[in-house]
Amino acid sequence: MRTPLTPRHTGMADAVEFSLQMGVPDAGQPEAVRLYWQAFRSKLGRVLGPDALAIDLLGGAVQANHAVVALNRSGDLVAMAGFRSAEGGFMPLAPRNLTRVYGRLGGLWRSALLRQLGDDLGDDQFVIEGVVVHPDWRGRGLGSAMIAELAAHARASGYDCVRLEVSDDNRRAKALYQRLGFQTVRHQRLRFLSPVFGMSGSTIMTRFV
Ligand SMILES: CC(C)(COP(=O)(O)OP(=O)(O)OC[C@H]1O[C@@H](n2cnc3c(N)ncnc32)[C@H](O)[C@@H]1OP(=O)(O)O)[C@@H](O)C(=O)NCCC(=O)NCCS
Repeated sequence: MRTPLTPRHTGMADAVEFSLQMGVPDAGQPEAVRLYWQAFRSKLGRVLGPDALAIDLLGGAVQANHAVVALNRSGDLVAMAGFRSAEGGFMPLAPRNLTRVYGRLGGLWRSALLRQLGDDLGDDQFVIEGVVVHPDWRGRGLGSAMIAELAAHARASGYDCVRLEVSDDNRRAKALYQRLGFQTVRHQRLRFLSPVFGMSGSTIMTRFV
């Protein structure tokens, strides 16, 4: 499924001067990777570090059409929210991507560890992933606007539900998702892998769209 790459203002754009568009523009891809790594480094740093290799991996993996982004008035990318659907995900850390960057053995063990982060809820739902707002832009409605945009996109693509996952330590994000109507469907504990990913577990939440 292809999504149009046309900028589109939201109702909140006038107040906070940002616009949303489906798809990461070419010029915004390095910033998308940087924001992603900055936000998820504490969770993935032990497995994907050092930084240069992780940035290389993410840069090669990004699927530009699997995200909504927010741009400021100069057209700079200031936020993004990725999604996974039947056609694939936003930053798929597939074995072949890992092998390209870390070699065969390095790719194998990283792949095995990353599989522990997934859930077994299947690929028939629309999954929101990689939601990040630049620190200077947080608390101004961008996260909520991007999630609303993805919910509308999911509905238009024939889904009746969206799913996302939030780490136990991310209380503010979880509170935001609850306010936006998401409900907990499952909590998963990482057990012996919690020191590797720096969190005890995560909550899976869903919402009808
Ligand atoms: C979580 C996040 C995407 C929310 O985006 P946002 O644009 O700030 O969200 P909104 O402005 O629509 O809503 C604000 C609410 O977001 C939540 N929030 C979470 N982290 C926040 C932060 N660092 N700063 C401000 N708000 C945050 C709060 O519930 C806040 O409401 P509050 O001010 O009453 O506490 C953003 O804070 C972020 O990028 N955090 C770092 C990456 C991350 O944790 N992503 C989520 C992974 S599941």
